[in-house]
Amino acid sequence: MFKKLAIGAAFALAIAPVASNAAGGGDQHIEDFAFSFEGPFGTYDQNQLQRGLQIYTEVCAACHGLKQVPIRTLSDEGGPHMAEDQVRAYAAENFSVFDAELDDDRPAKPVDHFPANTAAGAPDLSMMAKARAGFHGPYGLGINQFVKGMGGAEYIASLLDGYTGEEKEEAGTLFYENTAFPGGWISMAPPLFDEQVEFADGHANDVHNMSQDVAAFLMWTAEPKMMARKQAGFVGVLFLTILSVMLYLTNKRIWAPHKSKTRD
Ligand code: HEC
Repeated sequence: MFKKLAIGAAFALAIAPVASNAAGGGDQHIEDFAFSFEGPFGTYDQNQLQRGLQIYTEVCAACHGLKQVPIRTLSDEGGPHMAEDQVRAYAAENFSVFDAELDDDRPAKPVDHFPANTAAGAPDLSMMAKARAGFHGPYGLGINQFVKGMGGAEYIASLLDGYTGEEKEEAGTLFYENTAFPGGWISMAPPLFDEQVEFADGHANDVHNMSQDVAAFLMWTAEPKMMARKQAGFVGVLFLTILSVMLYLTNKRIWAPHKSKTRD
């Protein structure tokens, strides 16, 4: 019985990566990027999050909001971890908010949230990396999500990197062919192009790299406490393991006198 199960499981895992591209939304292609935060001990790459923030600010913020994210969290450890005065300057330079007391706009402060959407039809990106899944296979069963995770960041990176250059107009709206978007045609024009954003450290700024950077940043906005969650999970498993061993030994000890009697 166990052998059969083990063979079945091994088979399912073996075919999973092969079947993933074929399943879930027909012809969607999601690339399995190797993000630093994957796996039980993965962590966000602080520099990557800062690059992602820069791309969001310079490019995506023209249309997309991040209204659930407080700007002050940019200084959180485990996240972009920027210095507090840097965050204050960033908020004031890039965003303004309406202040009811002043009855006017004022520069944003770290206590404010990122702004809401500015373009019609552009969804808020705060939770997007958790609202979308990259891996659905095999055959839409979601089995390889156990192995690869939900793939929200992979989906976003593949989407930004997945434009073919084809366009079509339907009912007065332009659609752009995209290999990651379900259905294959999206109304968002390709937002990134090579060398669009200059990084202070001269990091690679081609579309492929920038797609991953901004996807990592959006994974962080959707799950800023991922590191703490993984750590708590690990401590929990460790605790339960020790508890099980102790219970096993205690149980043995409690029954020991009776066992030896029957054996005699
Ligand atoms: C010119 C405005 C504009 C810009 C700039 C823009 N987007 Fe979009 N975005 C849209 C619109 C409109 C949609 C809705 C597209 C649709 O559903 O067909 C969208 C949809 C999306 C989606 C959701 C796709 C889905 O599965 O529903 C993601 C993710 C996204 N954009 C990410 C980004 C990122 C990251 C950037 C910056 C690199 C960016 N966008 C820049 C207008 C924009």
